[in-house]
Amino acid sequence: MDAYIEFKNVVKRFDNFVALDHVSLQIPKGAFVTLLGPSGCGKTTLMRQLAGFSEPEEGDVLVDGRRMNGLPPFKRNTPLVFQEYALFPHMTVYENISYGLKLKKASKEEMDRRVEEMLEMFNLKGLEKRFPKQMSGGQQQRVAFARALVMGQDILLLDEPLSNLDAKLRVDVRTELRQIQRRLGITTIYVTHDQDEALSMSDIIAVMRRGRIEQIGTPWEIYFRPANRFVADFVGTVNFLEATVTQADAGGVTVAYHGMPLRLPAGTEAAEGDPVTLVVRPECIHLAGRDERPPQGAVLEGEIKNYSFLGRIIRYWVQIGQETFILDDANVDLTGARSGRVTLCLDTHKLHLLKGGDADAAS
Ligand SMILES: Nc1ncnc2c1ncn2[C@@H]1O[C@H](COP(=O)(O)OP(=O)(O)O)[C@@H](O)[C@H]1O
Ligand SMILES: [Mg+2]
Repeated sequence: MDAYIEFKNVVKRFDNFVALDHVSLQIPKGAFVTLLGPSGCGKTTLMRQLAGFSEPEEGDVLVDGRRMNGLPPFKRNTPLVFQEYALFPHMTVYENISYGLKLKKASKEEMDRRVEEMLEMFNLKGLEKRFPKQMSGGQQQRVAFARALVMGQDILLLDEPLSNLDAKLRVDVRTELRQIQRRLGITTIYVTHDQDEALSMSDIIAVMRRGRIEQIGTPWEIYFRPANRFVADFVGTVNFLEATVTQADAGGVTVAYHGMPLRLPAGTEAAEGDPVTLVVRPECIHLAGRDERPPQGAVLEGEIKNYSFLGRIIRYWVQIGQETFILDDANVDLTGARSGRVTLCLDTHKLHLLKGGDADAAS
């Protein structure tokens, strides 16, 4: 992979606190890459190293092969859009969007043309004379995007840009933003602590914790093949099954869970006797129908303890031994929820096996 943006072993400290601990990340041109992680894990700090608002103690930040370390922000071509849109309140939409062009002494004609393009792109036509306070949050956010893109640079950095919008609007704006990003082919780094946003928007997700990158992968890899318990737990609802490998051969791996065998397909590396953790997403389990004959090695028996009807699914809490499983049943019956003892059928090819028992628990 050709990296367009590259972080190489970046270390950033604040006194004794290590905010970035040897972070390396390669971003191809045109990609939409999301930094995902809990508050305080170093997402903003990493972006600031690229935008030039902060300098790492160790490591390099490269754009298109050029070392950025030491360059002031305005020489880096990497504008950053923050959560607080930071529009100028006393300026109109036109003036806000054209601000950077004006500083660069662009002609009136060029400003008009570029602003017009942006108004068109962000569905803001007719609003050019408005002031920020005369617009909705969603419109203000779009003006902030327009202002960031009007200079025609080829990198866009977005730090939790949608977090001030309400849930419904966030979904609309993120779809729109992603379409525009694809159309422009602009390399984008997006920061969020929202897993839905990350999964739905990204080409690549880098999951961060405590100043480190825990995993880099496509949304599918991050969701179905998490590198550890932290990633699995942070990116969606999950069940962890502590089990022991009872058989490992060319055809796959068998584990025992409360005496019930589960057979995982080949490609899983584990040896007999290994303690393992199975990662099971709630939608990878379904309740066996009354006449269903589920395949051997893909079945657990349990008892429904609780449920929550959500319309398109029913979420069940099912007890097996001392543990409670969460499963999402998409096969919703018109007449109500199931109860009592049930058979759970697992989509064994969607299960994921982590080496070791309870190690590396989410925190
Ligand atoms: N200028 C600073 N001085 C001291 N500590 C800082 C500074 N900036 C960030 N930090 C600390 O570094 C850690 C990472 O912060 P940040 O990158 O803002 O996290 P995130 O964006 O993932 O929520 C936090 O613990 C934060 O308190
Ligand atoms: Mg932040």
